[in-house]
Amino acid sequence: MTHTFVQVSEVIGRDKDKENIIRLLQDYGDRGQVSIIPIVGVGGSGKTALTKLVYNDGGVKNNFQLMMWVCVSKEFDIRNLIKKIIKSTDDGMGYDVEKLNKMEMEQLQGILREIIGDKKYLLILDDVWNDNSMKWNHLKEILFTGANGSKILVTTCSKEVASIMGNIPAPYELSGLSHDECVTLFTRCAFKERQVKRYPNLLKIGVEIVEKCNGVPLAVKILASLLFTKTDENYWKSIRDSELWRMKQNENGVLPALRLSYEQLPTFLKKCFAYCSFYPKDYQFNHFELIYFWMAHGLLESTNENEDLEDIGLHYFQELASRSFFQDFEEMGSLIILCKMHDLVHDFALSLTQNEFSAITSSTTRISKSVRHLLFPNSASLPPDLSTLLQGLDHVRTALFKNEEKSLSSQSALDLCLSRFQYLRMLDLNGSTLEIPLERLGV
Ligand SMILES: Nc1ncnc2c1ncn2[C@@H]1O[C@H](COP(=O)(O)OP(=O)(O)O)[C@@H](O)[C@H]1O
Ligand SMILES: [Mg+2]
Repeated sequence: MTHTFVQVSEVIGRDKDKENIIRLLQDYGDRGQVSIIPIVGVGGSGKTALTKLVYNDGGVKNNFQLMMWVCVSKEFDIRNLIKKIIKSTDDGMGYDVEKLNKMEMEQLQGILREIIGDKKYLLILDDVWNDNSMKWNHLKEILFTGANGSKILVTTCSKEVASIMGNIPAPYELSGLSHDECVTLFTRCAFKERQVKRYPNLLKIGVEIVEKCNGVPLAVKILASLLFTKTDENYWKSIRDSELWRMKQNENGVLPALRLSYEQLPTFLKKCFAYCSFYPKDYQFNHFELIYFWMAHGLLESTNENEDLEDIGLHYFQELASRSFFQDFEEMGSLIILCKMHDLVHDFALSLTQNEFSAITSSTTRISKSVRHLLFPNSASLPPDLSTLLQGLDHVRTALFKNEEKSLSSQSALDLCLSRFQYLRMLDLNGSTLEIPLERLGV
């Protein structure tokens, strides 16, 4: 499959930052203690990209006997995190999730301790939001094993989180890219190869747009990809001079950039984009599941009878991908494209859907009556009063259980959905081992 969208996988600059972080990883600090190194910077500034660079560095790999990467995101549930950490290791990969779900905390800790053993490890906790120091101390205790020189690298947008978690003198503050680096990134994403020389007038406007992005690569990428292949100077100017740059929350340029790009979408794509927020944060989806999801909700508009709905969906997917709304593309075989949404893009999409979507976790206490789509990101941790919470939800059209291993609570959540929601239009059990009785399917 050929992509019609540009993929800039190459990281620009960051040599010095990479060197600095690697030095921190080599530093022994207080003997016997695991160092916790926070990297703090605004959303979209490149913390995850830099951490990936470091993580994949050959020297770093040689320096540690065990490497673990876990995306933490908003929910900081210790049991879940321990399971994720276990599953991120070669030794832990073989553990059955259902078995892990049933285990007592003690047992889970035991497995993790055994995997770590006396190895020198590097653990990445990416995108942490938790500012509850008790929770962190609890997890820290479990992690403070392993050989001298083991390190935990934490990325976060919050200085407070960094100070609660870190145990080095000061967190590593990641600034944005330099102006020149941003211009390089912009040029790579906005122009086809070697075309930049043909449009010096556009480049000049582009440089002014870059200035509004405050060095944040995510904002630069979104705007540059919006302008890709557009050659009308007035259009470029309208982006540069947009009122949206005056938005209040414009701390890093990402929100106006997202809003600007979103506003240019035709209505049918706006809706498709908003619906992407249905997937959990940091979820890796393949483009077909997204296309079928849109299809099930009647979001694919065919203009010509002979056009295949899948092809229309593919076109929508490519259009949204070309705007940098998706990232981290991977190809599985030659047919399936896997990708993710950046958490800020996900937040933005979620803000567009108001009360239509709801992800149900152990901390859910209320679900809006107008909810249409229910997501069970981890049905091993559900609220105890789920049955009451699901009462009176008459508009539910979708229930999604992703990659769920069968457990008592996940199966009963599924049974509840099947018995309650008579207008269910889509039930997605992709990758899960849950069971539906045949009579429920009307077979
Ligand atoms: N130095 C860089 N060069 C090119 N692209 C970058 C660079 N840093 C970040 N990006 C891109 O910008 C986007 C946001 O970066 P990310 O690392 O996810 O930010 P954060 O983790 O700080 O929110 C990603 O699409 C990433 O690929
Ligand atoms: Mg990140």
